[in-house]
Amino acid sequence: MSNLDQMREEWLGRVAGAEDAAALEAVRVAALGKQGAVTALLKTLGGMSPDERQETGPRIHALRETVTGALAERKEALEAAELDARLARETADVTLPVAPAPRGSVHPVSQVMDELAEIFADLGFSVASGPEIEDDWHNFTALNFPPDHPARAMHDTFYLSEKGAEGGDRLLRTHTSPVQIRAMTGREPPLYIIAPGRVYRSDSDATHTPMFHQIEGLVIEKGITLAHLKWTLETFLKAFFERDDIVLRLRPSFFPFTEPSVEVDVGYSIEKGKRVIGGSDGWMEVLGSGMVHPNVIRACGLDPDEWQGFAFGTGVDRLAMLKYGMDDLRAFFDGDGRWLGHYGFGALDVPTLSGGVGA
Ligand code: DAH
Repeated sequence: MSNLDQMREEWLGRVAGAEDAAALEAVRVAALGKQGAVTALLKTLGGMSPDERQETGPRIHALRETVTGALAERKEALEAAELDARLARETADVTLPVAPAPRGSVHPVSQVMDELAEIFADLGFSVASGPEIEDDWHNFTALNFPPDHPARAMHDTFYLSEKGAEGGDRLLRTHTSPVQIRAMTGREPPLYIIAPGRVYRSDSDATHTPMFHQIEGLVIEKGITLAHLKWTLETFLKAFFERDDIVLRLRPSFFPFTEPSVEVDVGYSIEKGKRVIGGSDGWMEVLGSGMVHPNVIRACGLDPDEWQGFAFGTGVDRLAMLKYGMDDLRAFFDGDGRWLGHYGFGALDVPTLSGGVGA
């Protein structure tokens, strides 16, 4: 075997024997680097006679080509092996929880609002909203409150010092009912909406906070009766409290914007010394409701002989307290991490009707 053949065998052997990228690079430098063995051979060409060079030159070049080719092939093989090893090593189990111990939690008010939206979406209602800074017309007048109604009094309602564009009073909405007016004036009936949101009243004790949450419901349709209202509320409360033995009691009442008006009580029973919703050992008021007053329908530019409807409203915080057993409303708004840690919900506890809305 000639010297050059021997060298080829040697370098091909060393290339094949390189176990990783670093070893292979060392072989490359040793063969083809500035001080490399093959490079040194190439340098000898300059000192050769023309005949010798013609004979040996192509063989040296061929040697360099062969070693270069072998290096490239080996590099590719090593990279492929490395990728295979990584793929085998870095398996991801997509069924594992995203975060084993999520911190932070969803506030019970947000959770209950999501539950309500889920329940009413299933009944064909959409979610509507309105501004928290309202005007006197949407909050009171269009809802058939007479000018001297006590709810308009300064000591109940937060008024803004500046008047609105039309010179009317501006205030923090005292209930979500003005969203009824915005829905009726802003959209074409039929309407099936719920409107959850913040409301404000000048009140503060264990069961009242200056800001709290309500949800309003409104249906405007043809041929709507009190029976539709009762069925809707019963269906809603059964889904919300996740019990089939929900019993409702409708009591005659009065609201300026409904006629007739009813207050809705839900029956409770005593289980292990605690009140639980369901049964009828006692009654708890949960909702205000009624048939939308013709004056309200008329104020919104609709004909009350053509369109009727029902409305209801209740406190979201109160619903949360009843369902999840908290007893002080003020804690809802303290922002205490310990309370939220105890009563809050996981970010992934999304309420669904199929999975049970109460996560
Ligand atoms: N707006 C009432 C309140 O704040 C609640 C209410 C009662 C809303 C009867 C309604 C209703 O839509 O029909 O106390």
